[in-house]
Amino acid sequence: MRAGCTAPWSDLIVSSADNRTSICCMFLGKASDTFDSGNRVRPLRELWHAPELQAVRRLQSGGEPTPGCAACVHSIEAPPSRREPYFDFSSQGRLSERQQANLDLARQEAAAGSLTPESLPLRYLLYFGWFCNLSCIICNQLPNRDQMPATLPDDLFEQWRDHFAAAIMIDCIGGEPFTIPPAIAFMRKFVADSDLAGVRLRITSNGTLLHKHLDWLRRKERISFNISIDSIGDGYEHVRAGGKWAQVRDNLLAACEIARAERPEWTVSTNALLTRSGVPFLPEFARFHVESGIPTFFQALKPDRGNEEVLYREDILSFPHLLDDLPDWENCFKQAIAIFETSGQPEAAKGLRDYFDRIRRTRAEPRRNLDPFGRLLGAAEGVDGILGLVVGSVGKEKDAGIRTSPPVVEGGMAGFTSADPDFGLGLRLNFRGGVPNGGIVGIRLSWPATLPPDIRRCHAIFYDFPPFLLLSWTEYRRGDERVVDMVICDTTAARTDVSMVLTMMNARINTRNALPHRLEVWTTDD
Ligand SMILES: C[S@@+](CC[C@H](N)C(=O)[O-])C[C@H]1O[C@@H](n2cnc3c(N)ncnc32)[C@H](O)[C@@H]1O
Ligand code: SF4
Repeated sequence: MRAGCTAPWSDLIVSSADNRTSICCMFLGKASDTFDSGNRVRPLRELWHAPELQAVRRLQSGGEPTPGCAACVHSIEAPPSRREPYFDFSSQGRLSERQQANLDLARQEAAAGSLTPESLPLRYLLYFGWFCNLSCIICNQLPNRDQMPATLPDDLFEQWRDHFAAAIMIDCIGGEPFTIPPAIAFMRKFVADSDLAGVRLRITSNGTLLHKHLDWLRRKERISFNISIDSIGDGYEHVRAGGKWAQVRDNLLAACEIARAERPEWTVSTNALLTRSGVPFLPEFARFHVESGIPTFFQALKPDRGNEEVLYREDILSFPHLLDDLPDWENCFKQAIAIFETSGQPEAAKGLRDYFDRIRRTRAEPRRNLDPFGRLLGAAEGVDGILGLVVGSVGKEKDAGIRTSPPVVEGGMAGFTSADPDFGLGLRLNFRGGVPNGGIVGIRLSWPATLPPDIRRCHAIFYDFPPFLLLSWTEYRRGDERVVDMVICDTTAARTDVSMVLTMMNARINTRNALPHRLEVWTTDD
């Protein structure tokens, strides 16, 4: 048997809002339903042995491929030189007999490639729901949370209590777990149960409400607080909209004090998504962490339906030109790396340096430094011109209950209305003999600058699909127009006929979305 990722034998993610149970948060393939037809969480063994999970175990033990893991560094599909181990079955600290036996069995079953392991999950990630008290600008749940209200019930505790006793860690997450009553009830029962004393409770939280819960939490010996803050001070309050930095800072320090004085097995750490808005605050962010002794780690943003345009404005790893108007950005990175490095946080320093190097490398790519808006190649104008480019739609429009109007013209503009958040119209552009000038093209989309209040500009998205890559997406106002410029690269620079498809996605359900009134295709001026 060839050995791949071990996650399918160690981890289980149970999510309520989107009704998905799967292996890990990197997995993009088919998941199994969390709830049965009576809206009860399905029995653990039924989920753990579901065909969708078996398919991933088959793939990761060298068998038949299945989609969903291909982009992950832990997958058997990653080149061996880049592949990273996922779960360490050997060093898990002090365990009960039951935990140790489960860990040993899981190790053996992972090595044997068992599709229906007798061992139980070692780590559970329980997404109690998507409700939250903040509206973080980058949040991947925010665009859909109003339409996805389902929560895990707190009696999941009684339903799976015996299985939890064999686990090493249960991670409670939301939405914001401290705003979701069943999540709080579940955690209270967990904390009070002496049979689960050896099972670590991990809480992934925005930390804003921690001060209201520390009194009952301090009864549990093993807790890990994973507090998402992204930035500090004004940077924090911009990215984590609705949060107050002073409160979160005090809560972090209070949890650290309890850990120091009475709970040596508690851990308190923060995590930060790398955003453009956070860059000016990096040195201050580093200083806070080294002064308080709180470890942190940096993470890349992930796109999801609904937050793509936010990521076009914030994701400096994918779109490093976003740093052009922050002349001091390199200094901010260098200072923060030096603070982490010289003050006992080498891992944070390494994480940040890896991202810094990647941004510098990407920015230096010649294709990122071409201006393709030199010569107009062609344009589609007005309702007929734009509708002439529509080649079809994406989304669940055929599902029961989803009503989508075909593109209709109102007030001289084409648009659509859909109850499906995943609905969008594809606009196809054909290039005879390939994309000119080495494969780099500029697409300029324009709308009137002001639209009637009940009309939204649709989200203008270019979903990367090989060989095409979106290099930049910029939005600005020009005269009485709102303009979006996209730079797209055909990475093969093929000289044969090619087509690319832009998708005009639903900006808000049941609201009229306006398509652009003009689309132009540009190339470099030589
Ligand atoms: C959705 S939140 C829910 C838990 C809690 N409210 C919090 O903020 O930690 C879970 C984690 O997802 C991260 N997250 C949110 N939006 C993301 C995005 N677009 N890409 C990657 N991670 C994201 C958050 O920073 C957080 O660490
Ligand atoms: S606190 Fe967490 S769930 Fe809430 S909006 Fe922010 S990232 Fe999303």
